This record gives sequence, C-alpha cells and structure tokens, in this order.
Amino acid sequence: MPKAQKSGTATLQLPEKTVELPIYVGTEGERAIDIGALRKESGYITIDPGFVNSGACESDITFVDGEKGILRHRGYDIEELAENCLFLEVAYLLVHGKLPNRSEMQSFSRLMNRNSMLHEDMINFFNNYPEGAHPMAVLSAMVVSLSSFYPEIERESEGADLDMTVTRLLSKLRTIAAFSYKKSIGEPFVYPSHKFTYCENFLNMMFSSPVNDYRPDPLAVRALNLFLVLHADHEQNCSTSVVRFVGSAGSNLYASIAAAICALWGPLHGGANEAVIKMLEQIRQEGGNVARVIERAKSRDTSFRLMGFGHRVYKTYDPRAKIAKRACRQLLDKMGMGGDPLLEIAMELEERALKDDYFVSRHLYPNVDFYTGIAYRAMGIPTSMFTVLFALGRLPGWIAHWLEQHGGEVKKIGRPRQVYTGPVRRAFVPLDERE
Ligand code: CMC
Repeated sequence: MPKAQKSGTATLQLPEKTVELPIYVGTEGERAIDIGALRKESGYITIDPGFVNSGACESDITFVDGEKGILRHRGYDIEELAENCLFLEVAYLLVHGKLPNRSEMQSFSRLMNRNSMLHEDMINFFNNYPEGAHPMAVLSAMVVSLSSFYPEIERESEGADLDMTVTRLLSKLRTIAAFSYKKSIGEPFVYPSHKFTYCENFLNMMFSSPVNDYRPDPLAVRALNLFLVLHADHEQNCSTSVVRFVGSAGSNLYASIAAAICALWGPLHGGANEAVIKMLEQIRQEGGNVARVIERAKSRDTSFRLMGFGHRVYKTYDPRAKIAKRACRQLLDKMGMGGDPLLEIAMELEERALKDDYFVSRHLYPNVDFYTGIAYRAMGIPTSMFTVLFALGRLPGWIAHWLEQHGGEVKKIGRPRQVYTGPVRRAFVPLDERE
C-alpha cells in the first residue's frame, strides 16, 4: 500500500501463532488491514465471496460513502457535477484528475469530433449480425474489434497522447451504440456530424433517418447528458473490477473494456435498468398490483427481486437515484407525460417498499437504475438500449481505472486464491474398469 497512510497494526490471533498486520488509512478515513503477507507468514488465506470486505487496490478517482450516501469524483460532489457539467467535462475530470479549462475543453471536443467515425470495414460486422441481436453483444464485440483497426492505441496509452486514446474510445463507442440500434431496426446508419454536441450527435444518429429530418430535443439532450454524468464512475463495481482484472493480465484497453461491457450487461449490474422497465411493464399488464410484487420480492420461495432496488455499498438512498428521480419527473412533466403509468407504479413501489420492514431493515433503497429507464423510455429510447447508455456513461470511469492501474506502482496480476472442497487424492481407474 504505497500511498495510503500507515496507521498502526492489527493483531490476528491464529491457533498456531499471532500475526501483526499493518493498518492503512485513506484520505477520507477509510481503514484497511493489509493482508498481503498473511499467507507467507501464517499459511492462511482470507475468504470473502463477492469481495464484500476486500479492497483490491488504492484509487484516487472516486469516493463513495455508502452509509452517508456520498459520491465524489476526484473530490467533487456528484450533485455539483450533475448540476453544472457536460458529460465530456466529467470524462476529462475522471481521466486527468482535474476539470478542464476552456481551451482544454475545446481541444477535447475537437478530438471527440475527429475520432467519431468508424473504419468503413467495420460496417460489414454490423451487417452480419442477425436482426434481433442484443446491442450489448454487438457493443462488446465491436469494442474488442477496434483493437484490430486501431492497434496504435496500446502505444498511445503508454502516455504519448492520452486525449487521443480517450476521445477515440468515447466517440467511437457512441457511434457503435447508435449503429447497433439502427441495425436492430433495419434502418440505414446515420453518420456522426461535427455540427452536434456529444449528446445531440448520439440522439441524431439514433433517430434521424432519410425520411425523418430529426432535430435533437434540448430537453432530451439535457437529460441524456445528466444520466451519462450520473453513470460516469462508481469505483470498484463489478464491471470496473473486470477492467482492472483483465487489464492486470496485460490485456489492452479495448479488450479490458469489451469484457467490462459483458459484466455490465448482467441484470444485477447495469442490466438492471432494462429489467426495471420490464418489471414495471409486467406489473402494469397484470393490473398494477404493487402490493403483490412487494410480497413476491420478500418471499423466500422465489428468486424474484425488486429490480432497481438495493446496492452493495449504499445503505441509504443512492445519491444518483435521488438526482435521477427528480430529473425523470421534470422531464416527463415538461414533455406532458406527467401521468406516465410506469412512473406512477415506480413511485408507489418505492413508497411501499420504504415503509416495509423487510426493505427498511435491509437498507434497500432505489438505486441509479430505478428511474433512468422511465426517462429513457419517454425520450423514445428502446429498452434494449438502456444498458448500452449505461456503458456509454461508464466508459470514462473504466478508462480512468485502466490507466490508473497501468500507471501505478503496484502491478500484480489479479489471481485470487480459493479453499478447495473437492475430492482428496484418489486412485486412477482405467476406462474399461470404470463402473
Ligand atoms: N429485492 C428484494 N430483496 C433484496 C433486494 C431486492 N432488490 N436486494 C437485496 N435484497 C435482500 C437479499 O435477499 C438479502 O436478504 P437476506 O439477508 O434475507 O438474505 C439482503 O437483501 C442482502 O442482499 P444481498 O444479495 O446480500 O446484497 P448484495 O450487496 O450482495 O447485492 C444487489 C446487491 C444490487 C446485487 C442486490 O441488491 C440486487 O440484486 N438488486 C436488484 C438488482 C439491481 O437493481 N441492480 C443494480 C445495482 S445498482 C447499479 C449497478 O451497480 O449497476
């Protein structure tokens, strides 16, 4: 632990011996016991399925206090970033550690435009996917394919031109996302344009067509920007840990991010935003019986969970969910959709859950995925694209963590241990003698 402050030792009393383990404290007072030498000194390992209590690294990027509901990037509160920043500013902040000044922002945006196109040969890949292909599958495959088209990224990310690396990925992921949607509905691709901002460009590539002279709605642009900011990073979540894990093997940035996209797709992680809408739709179709759904989520006889509820770290209201809920309601009101039935069901679910002892005692609150899908739906974004938008938002965080890991002093391949519980050594039986 080279950066955190050493602060005394912990004494671990084992049956055979006592081991002294160093304690480290982070800048926000988070305490950690360094068990790096434990096995060498004692023969013991620790076991912690799901890494509930295990820190995998030090990081300067994001701070989360799950008890107080605090989220900060590089020291800035998420509330302030969400209120005041463009997504690209937050992306710059995560990667560079500082907010960009005006000239840095201009050159970052210029690079974003310059890097927005895909190599034309990549278009063939899209054309060969079956029509119903999930955009997350396409997204992951396309990102890993980028490494064949732009192999120089590995050299650039060694330090030469960081902005080039970052904008190339951020800009192309947006184009890939929109193309995968166009492919899924059988419409021609719409190319990125230098005339638009980051979010306008995405919406234009999604909704413009030869027969629809689309103009991005400023309300939708603002909402999309906000939701991308809310998703920009969240320290060592499942997909970000995948980025670090895959990257720790020496795999390139594209490969690490393609793997993270697959992790994000899962319904317990980023896929929850899609699962929330499916759940709300189902409740509506079945007559809107919210109480019954709450009972089902509590029941031990089913694996059903209230999607968009609960969080590994937050034991209070997720600060991102608070902002997303407000923005979702404002957007729907301004669009004249204030009485949206799914929003009504979501709010009733929340109200009932937050009064129910099952949810209260387990500290289960709405998370960032609970309200975002309702807003995306109002913006005309299809359900299958929700997790793609999460990926687009999370990309700067993934890049920042990959770069931090590669630039850091501790370079160790991710390789957990296990407690083996299979058969002990037994005699081999030749094929003909086996029962
Ligand atoms: N509905 C009903 N019960 C729940 C829920 C839920 N959504 N979430 C947790 N619980 C219960 C769980 O059954 C357990 O009860 P008991 O102690 O009686 O066994 C207790 O709460 C603790 O749950 P856990 O599974 O040990 O908690 P975890 O930290 O391992 O899981 C989670 C966190 C997010 C995977 C989980 O809360 C969940 O499955 N939520 C629904 C999916 C979801 O919304 N995911 C998005 C997460 S936020 C954005 C992101 O990271 O991508």
